Amino acid sequence: MSDKAWGGRFEEELDAIAARFSASVDVDGRLWPQDIDGSIAHVRMLANRDVLSKADAELIESGLQEIRASIEAGDFDWDASKEDVHMNIEAALTEAVGEAGGRLHTGRSRNDQVATDMRLWTRQACETTVDDIDVLLEVLADKADAHLDFLMPGYTHLQRAQPVRLAHHLLAWAEMLERDRGRVVDAARRMNESPLGAAALAGTTFPIDRESTAASLGFDRPMRNSLDAVSSRDFLLEAVSALAICSVHLSRIAEELVLWSSQEFAFMQMSDAFTTGSSIMPQKKNPDMPELVRGKTGRVVGSLVNLLVMLKGLPLTYNRDLQEDKAPVFEAFDTVHDCLAVLAGAIASARFDQKQMAAALQAGFLDATEVADWLALRGVPFREAHHVAGKLVQQAAKEGKTLAQLPIESYQSAHDAFDDSIFDALDMETAVERRDVFGGPARGRVADAIAELRGRLQARREA
Ligand code: ARG
Repeated sequence: MSDKAWGGRFEEELDAIAARFSASVDVDGRLWPQDIDGSIAHVRMLANRDVLSKADAELIESGLQEIRASIEAGDFDWDASKEDVHMNIEAALTEAVGEAGGRLHTGRSRNDQVATDMRLWTRQACETTVDDIDVLLEVLADKADAHLDFLMPGYTHLQRAQPVRLAHHLLAWAEMLERDRGRVVDAARRMNESPLGAAALAGTTFPIDRESTAASLGFDRPMRNSLDAVSSRDFLLEAVSALAICSVHLSRIAEELVLWSSQEFAFMQMSDAFTTGSSIMPQKKNPDMPELVRGKTGRVVGSLVNLLVMLKGLPLTYNRDLQEDKAPVFEAFDTVHDCLAVLAGAIASARFDQKQMAAALQAGFLDATEVADWLALRGVPFREAHHVAGKLVQQAAKEGKTLAQLPIESYQSAHDAFDDSIFDALDMETAVERRDVFGGPARGRVADAIAELRGRLQARREA
């Protein structure tokens, strides 16, 4: 950076390593749409307040629109020696419109400018994330609908536990995502205040109108305190926290896709479009996409840790440390965007195997709870009933049978309350259907849950 750019205070050029170290345009260049929007809002307000002449304001605005067009067309000349996105655009403006360009920065600082740009960018990125989540939710609703009659083992400790419906499991994923969506929406709502007009830290002597710039940029209101406006980045912490939690959820979903498509489970087959082969083993069809979703969680959680540590102990107000907020925020949003899209595609194109899931229900005594419940329903204390059922499981395991294959005599010698109707309770479909409680896996409950999810998605599309 030459002394010319920084004005009279400097006699020496910035050291080359210092220049390279502090330049950020490679990263923050992507803030250009927000930077131009913010500048236009600012310059129109300056003209309304007679701080700038209408002629200058119009010249500046048309210059900024030209710059927008040239960036969009890919012929803007980004220059790292101009440090950041703000200086690049301002320099180009002055080149395009002459002296008037030098008036744009009246009553403003890069400190409120960059804080404004980041709020605008992140607000938009939150909207995109919310849409991405809705796309995945649609896929889950469709898949749940199509597989309402597929029974599968539900697991605890990764041990087969009780029979459920595949649709019920898919809707559990949907619940996780629904909360993730809510967190992103909340973060976007709270960040929607305008730092513009806080200037360097203490506002400005020019008669600016912060309400009007806030309104024209779609903010709910100007931020109340100029010191806070330029130094707070908790809006980024909140947004990236929401993304970190979302990525952890995506990693859990991804892990189940990996497990279910393994030969050990064989509950599903991922489509060719979302699997890859091995360079040495011709038989392999690997679930690389969910594995990568699982693996990329580190980037997003890492971005959150990055931001938290950057901000910890930082005195008010602006410090250059804050420039480091951008890379982790962009990385977190980009990663979650890709992960959501990849999972939506992978799940939409996957085929579930009803037979394999049903077969998994046959081994593992998933109906043991039914035996205990059967007794408890007839007045046997549940603890005792649990013990009796456990004994029957032990016996069946020894004899290599399922609970349904044990003769009635075995039941009656374990407890004299048993009669033939115990065998009705052992049917898996019956076991699932009897869990007819709100939030449970009975067919009607799951169908209601799908309808409810679809209704929510529909209402959002119409909103
Ligand atoms: N590139 C800087 C950032 O992202 C812009 C603000 C610079 N402000 C300053 N006082 N040096 O934080």
